[in-house]
Amino acid sequence: MSTAELKRADFGDFVFGAATSAYQIEGAHDADGKTDSIWDTFTRRRRKIKNREHGRVACDHYHRVDGDVAIMQKLNLQAYRFSISWPRLQPTIGGAENIRGTDFYSRLVDKLLRANIRPFITLYHWDMPQYLEDKGGWINRDTIGRFADFASLVGRRLGDRVKDFIVFNEPMIFLSLGNLLGLHAPGRRSLRGFFAASHHVLLAQAEGARALRAVVGSAEIGTTISATAAYPASTSPRDVLAAQRFDTLFNTFYLEPVLGRGYPTAHFPALRRIEKHIRAGDMQKLQFDFDFWGLNTYTRKRVKYSRFIPFVHWRELKNDPNVPETAMRWEIYPQGIYDLLKKYGSYPEIKKLYVTENGAAFHDQVVQGRVADSYRIEYLREYLRAVQRAKSEGVKIAGYFAWSLLDNFEWAEGYHARFGLTHVDYGTQKRTIKDSGYWYSRLIAAGSEPT
Ligand code: NOJ
Repeated sequence: MSTAELKRADFGDFVFGAATSAYQIEGAHDADGKTDSIWDTFTRRRRKIKNREHGRVACDHYHRVDGDVAIMQKLNLQAYRFSISWPRLQPTIGGAENIRGTDFYSRLVDKLLRANIRPFITLYHWDMPQYLEDKGGWINRDTIGRFADFASLVGRRLGDRVKDFIVFNEPMIFLSLGNLLGLHAPGRRSLRGFFAASHHVLLAQAEGARALRAVVGSAEIGTTISATAAYPASTSPRDVLAAQRFDTLFNTFYLEPVLGRGYPTAHFPALRRIEKHIRAGDMQKLQFDFDFWGLNTYTRKRVKYSRFIPFVHWRELKNDPNVPETAMRWEIYPQGIYDLLKKYGSYPEIKKLYVTENGAAFHDQVVQGRVADSYRIEYLREYLRAVQRAKSEGVKIAGYFAWSLLDNFEWAEGYHARFGLTHVDYGTQKRTIKDSGYWYSRLIAAGSEPT
């Protein structure tokens, strides 16, 4: 740990924000014409989610937007990244617009702009309309056109005021957990389906970006990938190769084809199975010259060769007992974000990066009106220091979004892992800004780190 003070000024031209996603905070699952997303249906299935929790109410953000924007102001946020619930905007199969759904986001955007907070809109943060899933979801090529249509609608309704868009959030995560392992919605388990869906998502990403560009010419269009710094468990060539395969699947598989480099299968021939889903012209169509790439990163993994694990032939080492961990049991390893920023920063095709998510979950408690989460402050300080170091060495990083503005529904983990800068009491919906939130607000405003 370095003792140097963290100063706002050291980040130069940089945006500090916080992020959320629709299903994780909005609640109001059937309000104003919204129909089910795959997360509404998935959370109704028994035993899929810890304690059988769900996002039907979540933080009730849909009805508490004013208070939540006031919290953003107290945090001195310069930007707020949120996602649009697709079935709120297009609740039925024909794709007709639900004006009450559009209005909700339109009002949110107006409130943000009045508060001088720059909106960053994520188009897809995992909550596909159930009516599309019923037709195969991402496995069905027709979903590509549906998504482009949705992107165009968002652009037409909000693009007069919003300039920053993120097309997808973490394809690798929703595809592997949702279509391969069945742990997330839609709960499918198929290797073939996983590859088909992966290819279609990349096509949809580029089509969606083009559709947005067509209606919002001046937009800054990016997309967000998940990334986990991977280190070989030893210097043995087999472990080094295993870490390389891990890095390919988790960190570059959904990036390199978009840059025109093709699917990165050289070190990982099993990934060639995706090729049977490629049609003539696809590898051009899935390219898009994004204005920025968003990076979500939280931890690191140490990877070891294993001949017993099919397909990937690696296993992850257990956490190092000397490295602190969060409530997700993720190791706190700030060097990881630095290494990743350097790695992505070295792609000449990448113009600009944002850290679109970073943060830590703990089991926070409110004691006498206060959440004393010094451990989260420590996490944020060390990760931000690593971001600043990468930036000072020339990596083009334009901003950082803490995950998350509020404690929220952490997918299959339910509500126990609290990631917020603001505590949410789910019984009363009372919000309490945590010490880390105040710390972040002072860092942004004061120009130097509070002591
Ligand atoms: C990844 C996802 O984008 C977000 O939805 C999730 O809550 C956080 N990271 C933490 O796991």
